[in-house]
Amino acid sequence: MCGIVAYTGHKACTRILLEGLKRLEYRGYDSAGMAMVQEGVLAVRRAAGRISALEQLIGEDPLEGVTGIAHTRWATHGAPTKKNAHPHLDDTGRIGLVHNGIIENYTALKTWLQSQGKSFRSETDSEVLVNLISHFYQGNLVDAVQKALGEVKGTYGIAVVSADHPNTIVAARKGSPLLLGVGENEYVVASDASAIVEHTTSAVYLDDGEMVEITPEGFRTLTLDNNLVSKELENIEFSLQQIELDGYEHFMLKEIFEQPVSVQNTLRGRVDLEAGQAILGGLQNVAGQLSKAKRIIITACGTAWHAGLVGEFLLEHLARIPTEVEYASEFRYRNPIIEPGTVVIAISQSGETADTLAALREAKQRGALALGIVNVVGSTIARETNAGVYLHCGPEIGVASTKAFSSQLVMLALLAIELGRQRSLDQQQARELLGHLSGIPGKIEKVLAQSDQIRQVAQLYLQREHWLFLGRGYNYPVALEGALKLKEISYSHAEGLPAAEMKHGPIALINEGMPTVFIATSGSQYEKVLSNIEEVRARGGKILAVATENNAQIHKHVDHVFTIPEIPEPLSPLLTVVPLQLLAYHTAVGRDCAVDKPRNLAKSVTVE
Ligand code: G6P
Repeated sequence: MCGIVAYTGHKACTRILLEGLKRLEYRGYDSAGMAMVQEGVLAVRRAAGRISALEQLIGEDPLEGVTGIAHTRWATHGAPTKKNAHPHLDDTGRIGLVHNGIIENYTALKTWLQSQGKSFRSETDSEVLVNLISHFYQGNLVDAVQKALGEVKGTYGIAVVSADHPNTIVAARKGSPLLLGVGENEYVVASDASAIVEHTTSAVYLDDGEMVEITPEGFRTLTLDNNLVSKELENIEFSLQQIELDGYEHFMLKEIFEQPVSVQNTLRGRVDLEAGQAILGGLQNVAGQLSKAKRIIITACGTAWHAGLVGEFLLEHLARIPTEVEYASEFRYRNPIIEPGTVVIAISQSGETADTLAALREAKQRGALALGIVNVVGSTIARETNAGVYLHCGPEIGVASTKAFSSQLVMLALLAIELGRQRSLDQQQARELLGHLSGIPGKIEKVLAQSDQIRQVAQLYLQREHWLFLGRGYNYPVALEGALKLKEISYSHAEGLPAAEMKHGPIALINEGMPTVFIATSGSQYEKVLSNIEEVRARGGKILAVATENNAQIHKHVDHVFTIPEIPEPLSPLLTVVPLQLLAYHTAVGRDCAVDKPRNLAKSVTVE
């Protein structure tokens, strides 16, 4: 949510900052801006809309310098206008700031600053912060930033420049990620490694309550109360190629098609077929506690929450451990009951989602064993868990999550098998499931081969504004995920439901030609799903079904069929979700929507 990139070094940095912003655009894209010290003054360019608008502006009115800060915004306080875009300057115009996060006490601070004679141009909380820094500034930027942050309640990742210190950047974090890419006499500060990796793969990850002062000659890391801290240089684990389009029209399509490989990467080294065991190294140090788990609470948001729902089926079915799935935003505020033996698992692609992080902290504070299933290495959630496992599915850029979802399912299946082996699952059952898991990449390929057919079907329903997605059992969460994908990127209204619930209200929506997507794969509830299909058909609805490939009979009941290869039911969501991802994608493209950057959404929601 919002992206920060800042540079100091020996190169002209306008292009470096623009390219960095483009890499971060998936985190927020309603306005953008850049500031640089030029001939002793701070020069700023800001534009409403996408980075391309800022790029055009800078083309017409260039910025030049070797030290600068830049930002792409996802509006929280104040509309996405040029006036509210970052960087914000203090009222003297000598200090500039870019900020991710929210200053909760900004109203009180603003009133107080106004009483001290400060004036404001925007509606943002960030402009309050830069004026607070300015208020405390007496020639020492680090000192002023520390004093200002001492007064602030809320979350922030910030980068600050000053006309008085033309080659210095001061950056700080609390609750909003920030890292420093370390090159040779050049440094890039960013909210996300993808803006850094083009320049260096060595990075220092700031922790909450830390700050850094950077010049082209070097950097020093400090706590916000001014104690020096020594930080390790860490290696950023992904390459530039992984964050480029690689010939695909959109990142979402690339990521859907990457799933055979990303699933393979999640599985790599984690399957011992012979022994019928899953090997989850990241959980080794809590293995004793895990083996005694009495209850599991999975907490997450969005797509990760849907993966959690599949996890509930897997953990209860294979390991017989009572499991609940909670929206992170609800869990944290409802005085949750954590007893000895309760394990809380936070699932998050980004590892930065504010509500998931807060739920994790709440769980830890109440004494739960807190585990994480996270993709982004070194992210805050990953750092704060007692133990956890990484997805290793590579960077996910498309705002609508796809490959992270399938990798989350793989990880939950591995976990359920491993915990199951300590309880009710015998070696042979585990071997079979692990064998099928290892075969998933090849089966996903077979589903992906239907992309063109799915595109043709999508064309028929482009004008439809309402959809239902229905499934049962393991595929009920997939119905929710299919509906979420469609609404996120095509702006068609879609509702996902357990198929039987349709009769308790949503059936009233069905009229002539309304599309309903059923997951009707072979399994324990197939016959029941077929009855639900008939109920829709009887009311003139159009039916798109995801079915098992050897089911010839299904064609008699539905209008369109997408198939998946045979697979045991617990693993079927790994395949059934793929046609739904493609359906959403092709619908969005057909409706001319911005697939990778849907309106109002952000990849990583770092505000509550
Ligand atoms: C945002 C994204 C979703 C994502 C959710 C949770 O809403 O747009 O795609 O599922 O956050 O994100 P996380 O990074 O915690 O998995």
